[in-house]
Amino acid sequence: MSRADLHDVPETALWTLRNRAEEALRPGSRFPDPEAVRLYRALAGEDFSRFGRPGPGHSQRAAAFDAVVRGFLDEHPSGPVVALGEGLQTAYWRLGRPDVAWYSVDLPESVVLAERLLPAEPAVRRLAMSALDRAWLDEVPAGPALVSAEGLFMYLPREEVHALVADCAARFPGGRLVYDSVPPWFSAMTLRGKARLSKAYTTPPMPHSQRSSDLAAVVEAIPGVVAGHEVPVPPARPWDKALLRVADLPGVRDLRPTISVLEFAG
Ligand SMILES: C[S@@+](CC[C@H](N)C(=O)[O-])C[C@H]1O[C@@H](n2cnc3c(N)ncnc32)[C@H](O)[C@@H]1O
Repeated sequence: MSRADLHDVPETALWTLRNRAEEALRPGSRFPDPEAVRLYRALAGEDFSRFGRPGPGHSQRAAAFDAVVRGFLDEHPSGPVVALGEGLQTAYWRLGRPDVAWYSVDLPESVVLAERLLPAEPAVRRLAMSALDRAWLDEVPAGPALVSAEGLFMYLPREEVHALVADCAARFPGGRLVYDSVPPWFSAMTLRGKARLSKAYTTPPMPHSQRSSDLAAVVEAIPGVVAGHEVPVPPARPWDKALLRVADLPGVRDLRPTISVLEFAG
């Protein structure tokens, strides 16, 4: 039975994969993801119970990212799409657009695992390096691109994130970036080592946070970024609609995670 042998931040890709696959397996699921289920089963030797009880949050996040990528591909059918910190994401297969030029950037140990377990696809190019290493920028054609950073920026220092986004804006004029953020209270909890998913597992520190109300200042602060908006997450259960409405109330909005799109100058 296969195990992943990942540690630190790369290990968190197992947590998110487990949650997406469990959601896809749930009867009545609104999140079909056969490739994630196959991958999850392929890692049967892994003790996923250390990540606590599965929940729908990561599949809702993935579905929200998919909507942004689909919107970009409607305008730019051949891409490119760049997935930073892609881990064991299976968005490429969920989207069902095999010809899209897809670049996957992650740390070497994560890329080795993805290459071992996921099908090789002619359109998918895996780049084994830090997203902060600008060498990957040279591998992607200049011009409009969709850059996604799903579950990545929270683990990186804010200044590094802003400098990277500015470099993306310079390389991909007319492109956009989608990323998600944790709220400051949760970031603080992780920095104190208190974000325990179980007795056996505590999430790594997440130094970078962003509130819903911070987005305008982020747009203002990063050279080459001309606009930004938040992306809603879709409901995973019938009663989620009411919960999502409450999470959007002023006062509550700044306490929940956010997904943001930044538009690059053309
Ligand atoms: C929470 S996981 C998210 C994985 C995937 N995006 C998902 O949503 O399932 C964080 C990912 O970021 C990757 N990562 C951490 N630091 C990175 C860096 N500096 N550059 C690129 N990837 C990084 C890890 O290897 C891991 O795959």
